[in-house]
Amino acid sequence: MKRVLCILTLCLMTCYVFSQQLIRVGDDGKSWNLFTRSTVYQLKVENNEVRMGYYGNKTLIEQTGRPLGAEIPVRGGYVNATPILEVIFPDGVRDVELAYQSYEIVNVDGFQTLKITQCDKHYPLEVISFISIIPEYDLIEKWVEIRNTGKKGNIKIENLLSGSIFLPKDAYELTHYAGVWGYEFTPQTTKLTPGLKTIQVKDFKSYGLSSFYIRPEGETDNYSGKVWFGSIKYSGNWRIDFDKSFNGPVQIAGGLNFWDQELNLKPGSSFTTPRMVFGYTELGVEGVTHCLTSYIREKLLPSSHREKIRPVLYNSWYATTFNVNEEHQLALAKVAKEIGVEMFVIDDGWFKGRVNDRAGLGDWTVDTNKFPNGLQPMIEKINALGLDFGIWIEPEMVNPNSDLYRAHPDWVFHFPNRQRHEGRNQLILNLAREDVVQYLYQSFHKLLKENNIKFIKWDMNKQMTDPGFPSAPTDEQRAVRIKYMENLYRLVETLRKEFPDVWFENCSSGGGRIDMAMNARYDFNWASDNTDPIDRIFIQDSYLTLFPANTMISWVTHEDWHRQNHPLEFKFNVCMAGVLGVGYDITKWTEAEKDVAKERITKYKEIRKTVQTGTPYRLVTPYESNRSIVQFVNKEQSESIVFVYNMAEYPNNVFTENRRSALVQLRGLMPDARYAFEGVNGIYSGDYLMKTGIEIPLRGAYKSRIFKIVKQ
Ligand code: GLA
Repeated sequence: MKRVLCILTLCLMTCYVFSQQLIRVGDDGKSWNLFTRSTVYQLKVENNEVRMGYYGNKTLIEQTGRPLGAEIPVRGGYVNATPILEVIFPDGVRDVELAYQSYEIVNVDGFQTLKITQCDKHYPLEVISFISIIPEYDLIEKWVEIRNTGKKGNIKIENLLSGSIFLPKDAYELTHYAGVWGYEFTPQTTKLTPGLKTIQVKDFKSYGLSSFYIRPEGETDNYSGKVWFGSIKYSGNWRIDFDKSFNGPVQIAGGLNFWDQELNLKPGSSFTTPRMVFGYTELGVEGVTHCLTSYIREKLLPSSHREKIRPVLYNSWYATTFNVNEEHQLALAKVAKEIGVEMFVIDDGWFKGRVNDRAGLGDWTVDTNKFPNGLQPMIEKINALGLDFGIWIEPEMVNPNSDLYRAHPDWVFHFPNRQRHEGRNQLILNLAREDVVQYLYQSFHKLLKENNIKFIKWDMNKQMTDPGFPSAPTDEQRAVRIKYMENLYRLVETLRKEFPDVWFENCSSGGGRIDMAMNARYDFNWASDNTDPIDRIFIQDSYLTLFPANTMISWVTHEDWHRQNHPLEFKFNVCMAGVLGVGYDITKWTEAEKDVAKERITKYKEIRKTVQTGTPYRLVTPYESNRSIVQFVNKEQSESIVFVYNMAEYPNNVFTENRRSALVQLRGLMPDARYAFEGVNGIYSGDYLMKTGIEIPLRGAYKSRIFKIVKQ
């Protein structure tokens, strides 16, 4: 019965998706308009080749002109775009000539998808481009499958990106996010001048992001104006090219980074690229935020936990570093429970030989010197307190000083006759090897099976170096990074399937590997090792522009990077704009400190539904003022939470950044409804709060407030 119901629901969903007719095919059967809620993406066959037309506001569809460029720009013929396909055929020919074959409309993951097949005019190469429509978030997703349909001879792929789009000829500014450890995702805005601007990752780690947006030059309004944006669903090496011709359109092309990489496509085999997301909005950067964050929150996050409210966490890293033992962990857990924590997480240091960062990685059994009874008895005591238990792991790495490395020195990436590069005294396991993947699977399957673990913090602390796999066939050696990533995804997906009630957090020395592919597999990201509240306000501002708040874990810690001794309440208020965690040695807290924690955690539990599932609005960004104000509004528009942080106190109008109205206009309320503003006297109409705005009563550096606004 359940099965029948499931099939029926699936059929109904498919009928619903397809009843919307998001892809309109021209009478000639050779042109297509792809619609989202407010955009159109146009394609047509011209001279037997598929070309992209206009991408933007769907009301302009009748006025759009000539195609702007090939849907799959290739190496071959005139080089007037960045190729997304570069191959070498067995006879040495390097140019590709594509001809249109056929199209199909298919359902991929519940989304209407246009599938267009082109073939090389002479060689056995089939190129299938996919464009999925995610209508309610104004997004499309592009990827390419390529197939060697021949009987003999490999086709060597030297470059194959996920997709390309062309923007109408204009002057543009690009904003992307770059950073370093501790200062993740700093927005960078630059004018696109003729030539190529590339953002990329070459070592599997990026404190920047593959998310970007482009606006016509001079458009700065946060809430209106045309914006094209995108991101790559990939966590390995990626690349995005912004190619501006002198007198023509701007091309955006992105996907896998084929730097030091190639694939040899055997006869009969195929390869599918990761996906690249593109979007268009006329609601400014706020539109970008709403399209991306709602999509991630409502459709992309792992389905088992997507709808769940995130727990308040404690993590012992900053309290203990590697110095963990049962007695101290239990003492921490007791206080954690007392202040209102729900999930207790032991960080690094619990496994065999892990006395410091020079040993232990790879040996995923408990260190019996530190935990003579194993983990489970301690977990039971923690559970008895009423707390769930979580644990830190770093599957992809190994210390040379470990049993695993001593038994399998050939399991790490390395080149013979070359110096290997250790980072944090560790090497990278060659996840392109199936025996390595199986070892990791067995280790973590056992760990999760034998212990009542409800949360995994999955770390990755070293950049990719020495990517050699000497025993692999020569023609597969430069594909190792691609295989690694495929296997990493498979590993986490398998574990999640087998342990569906475990939460997974993604970490890479802070926010070194955050992207939409991780969002599809992990419930949370650790945005930065920098927990200084002022720095964190900047990091969180970028994070919340692109990712939903229910994926951002933030801990309150004693870390004080600029020796400012911020008030505890200020630190809590910063972390409460995401998924709240605590990381102090709370056994040393005074009663007064515990009281602040208790009171803040109680408050967080009261507001977290709106924070975690509401629509975010960045009212004042730390880049434009000495304050930062973030607002969340619940779906029903009946409750809103406003976070206000004063980062410094200057007299009004002294500094350029400070020359702005003291009135703050809220967003996202119902104009006609009446709202009570907790902490500010009076009842206001939504219209008044959004148009006139109110002065937020907060003075002084490192002062912060959280206001609740409730519909009457
Ligand atoms: C990385 C993480 C930290 C912590 C340590 C443990 O640096 O970013 O949060 O887990 O590893 O070694």
